Amino acid sequence: MSGLATNGYVHGYSADEARRLADQADTLAGLLHADTFFPPGSRVLEAGCGVGAQTAHLVARSPGARVVAVDVSEDSLAEARARVAGVEWHRADLFDLPFPDGSFDHVFVCFVPEHLKDPAGALARLRRVLRPGGTLTVIEGDHGSAFFHPDSAAARAAIGHLVELQAAAGGDGLIGRRLQPLLSGAGFADVVVRPRTVYVDATRPALVEGFPLNTFTAMVEGVRDDALSAGLTTPAAWDRAVADLRRTAGDGGTFHYTFFKAVAVKPEGPA
Ligand SMILES: C[S@@+](CC[C@H](N)C(=O)[O-])C[C@H]1O[C@@H](n2cnc3c(N)ncnc32)[C@H](O)[C@@H]1O
Repeated sequence: MSGLATNGYVHGYSADEARRLADQADTLAGLLHADTFFPPGSRVLEAGCGVGAQTAHLVARSPGARVVAVDVSEDSLAEARARVAGVEWHRADLFDLPFPDGSFDHVFVCFVPEHLKDPAGALARLRRVLRPGGTLTVIEGDHGSAFFHPDSAAARAAIGHLVELQAAAGGDGLIGRRLQPLLSGAGFADVVVRPRTVYVDATRPALVEGFPLNTFTAMVEGVRDDALSAGLTTPAAWDRAVADLRRTAGDGGTFHYTFFKAVAVKPEGPA
């Protein structure tokens, strides 16, 4: 692993990444949020809201809920404010949330624990601000669930490099499969984790552009410079991998990926 960056957020905060997050949220809204509903008047915290890509869907599906959203990035929050109305935004670190114990009925976190060195600690911090009986919803991917046709050793290697880069930065691109033990270990009860599979082929044209191209391949393309500077790959191998991933969205191509959505409850009793 020598030569790999050991800190920082692997996807960064570029305009391309902001666009990718919005495409991802919009493409996957039905799959990930069809059953996300918070009752009118309930207090909801979104931790790590980024540019507000998921926040827009939370607000649209639960228009009566009082949504508070936090992120460490001021630039992302500025974009989020411009994207979604009716939300209370705060710049805050989820490890040091500026809210009293039990402030929220529901907490929502999407694609954030995978980037943290201490995801269990993060979940415990989110539990603190939940009221007893309140729910935590967590959505994560798992890059080990990506398979596709035509298969490509170059593309599989590039996905492996993305996982390595994320691990070197302290994260875990394979976190989806760990959600249940992480939530149970962080003191949550009634943990229910269900896979949400995206499968795309030519019969689902609406998903072809949005998922294999604009979400997944764009994510892999986004770490090209990091993979090259870490000495993990060569320009030719990387470009071949990206071309092969793009081919899965072409004639006769298919693509499979699984997200994991967890809902867990803060038990009654001491925090
Ligand atoms: C992959 S983005 C996901 C954004 C959004 N949840 C979405 O799904 O579109 C991860 C976000 O987590 C934020 N983040 C990372 N560490 C954080 C922390 N300790 N506290 C709050 N936000 C954090 C980053 O700034 C970034 O906006």
